[in-house]
Amino acid sequence: MTEENTALAAFNARVAEDHLVGNWIVEPHLASLGDGPKPACAPYLWNWKTVRDHLLQTFTVLPDAEGARRVLTFLNPALPRGTTHTLSSGIQLIGPGEVAPAHNHSMNALRFVIEGSSKLETVVNGIPCPMENYDLILTPSYSLHDHYNGSDGNVSWLDVLDVTLYGRLNQMFFSPHDEPRQAHRNVTLGEGPAWLRPRWGEPQDWSQYRFPWAETYPLLKRLASQGPGSPTNGVMLEYTNPVTGGSLFPTMSCTLQWLHPGQTTRRYRRTTSSIYFAIQGQGTLTVDGKSLSWGQHDTFALPNWVWHTFANTSKSEPTILFGVHDEPAIRALSMYRDQIAEA
Ligand SMILES: [Fe+2]
Repeated sequence: MTEENTALAAFNARVAEDHLVGNWIVEPHLASLGDGPKPACAPYLWNWKTVRDHLLQTFTVLPDAEGARRVLTFLNPALPRGTTHTLSSGIQLIGPGEVAPAHNHSMNALRFVIEGSSKLETVVNGIPCPMENYDLILTPSYSLHDHYNGSDGNVSWLDVLDVTLYGRLNQMFFSPHDEPRQAHRNVTLGEGPAWLRPRWGEPQDWSQYRFPWAETYPLLKRLASQGPGSPTNGVMLEYTNPVTGGSLFPTMSCTLQWLHPGQTTRRYRRTTSSIYFAIQGQGTLTVDGKSLSWGQHDTFALPNWVWHTFANTSKSEPTILFGVHDEPAIRALSMYRDQIAEA
């Protein structure tokens, strides 16, 4: 080591004692970012049957689930917590007659119903939302919500929250309600139409919290019959807020994605991360040459800024994915970028 380097090393050590660092140490790291951010988590798939079998065992090991709900959260193997570096997801299962007690929190959440029933409901700010198969139910920031299974079978759904982002930004608040279940309001709009709104009460009194599969699937199917959709995502629809026309949450957007039999998308990458749930069919997500194969009701995580393709591996059946993306948060900060690989 030269005399000059020795003096610099001693200086670096001295300033470090005062919690300071020289820019000459940081700059080489910035230079390594020429190709953008390193992916913040790993691509990973959780098998539906494995998760459901574990959840069924909670009836033995956790017979009284009140207050400690039967939820298994997907932990990304490359992270200390979270399913991606911004999103958290898991499967919740509740037995006949069980209640998931009322509470509210600062984090936004959604439920995508897997095994539903007309007698299963989430109540959001007093509005009862039936949970039938593949319905999407929103429980936005600070909305009071509880779940009740009035059917005689087990029910389950996918939970997705922006809690990992909220945790990183240190913005978490949580309040239990004083009763397990909240009262139903006796006036609601139901499912629309979105272009008529009452002029009394608060805007959240008339929010749409339920997006029924019975209404979303026919449009998806009709558009799919007309062609292959986008080269990077196939036939993709985004759920929108009926009042603003924007994404459902300030932090998360929700999509449905149809891939025709044998369809493969172009290699693509975005600065957003996503969670995908396979509603039906089978396929593969390929990230940097490694493939994850999905079947019905599997869930997988797609990290930010990775080259990826989706492929429907069936020759005869379509595959449909429900996706949740941190895109609105990334766009709000003007950080969104995407790139399509050369053909
Ligand atoms: Fe909650």
